[in-house]
Amino acid sequence: AEQIPNEKTIDDTIDLLKEGYLYIKNRTDEYRINLFETRLLGQKAVCISGEEAVKIFYDPEKFKRNGAAPKRVQKTLFGENAIQTLDGKEHIRRKALFLSLMGPDAQQRLAQMAAAEWEACIPKWEKAVRIVLFDEAKNLLCRAACRWAGVPLREEETGKRAQEFMDMVYAFGAVGPRHWKGRMARTSAEDWVRGIIEDVRADKIKAEDGSVLKEMALYRDKDGRQLDAQIAAVELINVLRPITAIATFITFAALSLLEHPRYKGWLEGGDEQRIEWFAQEVRRFYPFGPFLGAKVRKNFTWNGYEFKKGLLVLLDMYGTNHDEKIWGDPDVFRPERFRDWNGSLFNFIPHGGSDPSRGHRCPGEGITLEIMKATLDFLVNKIDYDVPAQNLNIPLNKIPTLPESGFIIQNVKKKTPAV
Ligand code: HEM
Repeated sequence: AEQIPNEKTIDDTIDLLKEGYLYIKNRTDEYRINLFETRLLGQKAVCISGEEAVKIFYDPEKFKRNGAAPKRVQKTLFGENAIQTLDGKEHIRRKALFLSLMGPDAQQRLAQMAAAEWEACIPKWEKAVRIVLFDEAKNLLCRAACRWAGVPLREEETGKRAQEFMDMVYAFGAVGPRHWKGRMARTSAEDWVRGIIEDVRADKIKAEDGSVLKEMALYRDKDGRQLDAQIAAVELINVLRPITAIATFITFAALSLLEHPRYKGWLEGGDEQRIEWFAQEVRRFYPFGPFLGAKVRKNFTWNGYEFKKGLLVLLDMYGTNHDEKIWGDPDVFRPERFRDWNGSLFNFIPHGGSDPSRGHRCPGEGITLEIMKATLDFLVNKIDYDVPAQNLNIPLNKIPTLPESGFIIQNVKKKTPAV
């Protein structure tokens, strides 16, 4: 179709790297349309954005995931042959395993472990000259994730494993050293976790019934076969890594409290509804997941554009979470907006869209929300602290990104409970 905008450069990869999170949104805003054609990493691609785009992107008749993620992403962020690359029945079955381990009780158990760990930090922090919140959060979450999942982790090893998980995440949009760091981290972590899976199967490690470790180690596919130990390790890492990565949202949450101090008072006293709205707005407002990729399963037409079988399509997560048609004033940080949110599975997509049991939407959204709520309550109601001058800039051309300083706090003091 003629009216569909086409980026005329030979290949837009350089612009994608330069514009980062804003690459798709800059163009959909400019053309005032929710799709355009481009070339990325040497192939034709179509970028789509907005609520209607989310609906088609999650239609399993129209799209598949196998073959969509570049090898460089599989060798860092996802792992090879992981759930992210499955389709159809095999995907639904493996997804059910993930979801069965992350229900409301499991979410609460993990959030309470995180809350207890935060409180246990206070004496150490009161003596420290400065604390980098991101670093504390990633170590704390890695420790809690392993304990919650039943994965043995020595305290001396915690920092190393937490860093490996973050290196995998921060390799996503990287070329050069940051990409290679992610690959090495993945190799090291897979060796470690595969050894644990093998020990559980050989009964050398007693894994608790119902634990994530045991369920992953002993899961059987539809033909009754155990997963290859390597793939079981990849999938167990698919639980431990993203829990550790919630450190990113925690850092954004602390930043938003600094930038919008009136909300500190609003959250004092620990009103759970307000804390939840605040956590939702942090997940909407700040950049984490940039876009998602899928391939067209069979030809169809949408918005006057012919989607041909095999075409690469990118769904703009950041742009949809900042879509004026959905959010009104998308660039204003306003937690109360969630009072009026319609709860749609297709318009608020920091963790992807649609129903997680039927598509690829993140199974860890509940865990993420509960850990963020526990952490916000801690930051607002359990401690006082100062935030010294530092570089809090969030570069939007770095995917994933983070406030540059990692959020430094000082003069931490335990709050005396109000009577
Ligand atoms: C998938 C975001 C935390 C486990 C995804 C997807 C996104 C996402 C955008 C892809 C959706 C799609 O492909 O359609 C996030 C963010 C998190 C987070 C921003 C916050 C740090 C978690 C947690 C867990 C988790 C805590 C597990 C405990 C997974 C898994 C998948 C996934 C296993 C693959 C699902 C599939 O392919 O069916 N996540 N996630 N994530 N996430 Fe998360």
